[in-house]
Amino acid sequence: MITVQYYGHSSFLIEAGEAKILFDPFITSNPAAKGISIDQIDCTHICISHGHGDHIGDTIAIAARTGAEVICNYELALWLERKGVKKLHGINIGGEVEAGDCLVKMTTAAHSSSLPDGSYAGLAAGFLVKYRNNTLYFAGDTGLGADMKFLGETENISLAFLPIGGTFTMGPADAAKAAELLRCKQVIGMHFDTYPVIRIDREKAISTFRNTGTELILMEAGEKRNFPVTAQELKWEKLSV
Ligand code: NI
Ligand code: MN
Repeated sequence: MITVQYYGHSSFLIEAGEAKILFDPFITSNPAAKGISIDQIDCTHICISHGHGDHIGDTIAIAARTGAEVICNYELALWLERKGVKKLHGINIGGEVEAGDCLVKMTTAAHSSSLPDGSYAGLAAGFLVKYRNNTLYFAGDTGLGADMKFLGETENISLAFLPIGGTFTMGPADAAKAAELLRCKQVIGMHFDTYPVIRIDREKAISTFRNTGTELILMEAGEKRNFPVTAQELKWEKLSV
């Protein structure tokens, strides 16, 4: 079983086996995540897609309390190290790292990136998460891109986390096209409704996806869902240290 908990905006906790991987924890400053306390979040790893404030969010505080390892690009890792984060794993696009029972691989994203203080933050990215025979794709902030076609051809993605709010990322129509390119039939929407500029018509978005044969799942902040996994052996080979 893979458990997914949504914390609003683009923040999710994915639990698979022993791994509890938190993505882009923008919570205390998120008006749409008022009922969620970062002190209740238990995680082993934190993946950061890029340096914008609505993705770095509460990373420093959560990493300090939990001791979770932060997985992000090298430039973000250097910045977080200067801010006192102890356990960091800086990688870059194409790089992969073990995260408990999962393998996390950094992918491209078509987006910009800089830190709240103006520091250079490297390239914006997304992540693949592999657990047993399952591959999840967390797109980060991105527009529709040809690399998604490549991921669809080379990976077997069963669940994709795609931005759907428009303005700063894809909107629902492009995200539905992305799901087609990714050959993924199940999408969890993110980066929508947090602010007026990324407000969407939920019913319209769901039907846009439905018309292409894909299910769009819109979770509420705080909500938790289970996704079944196939009970096959780990497909990826353990990395040698
Ligand atoms: Ni961004
Ligand atoms: Mn963003």
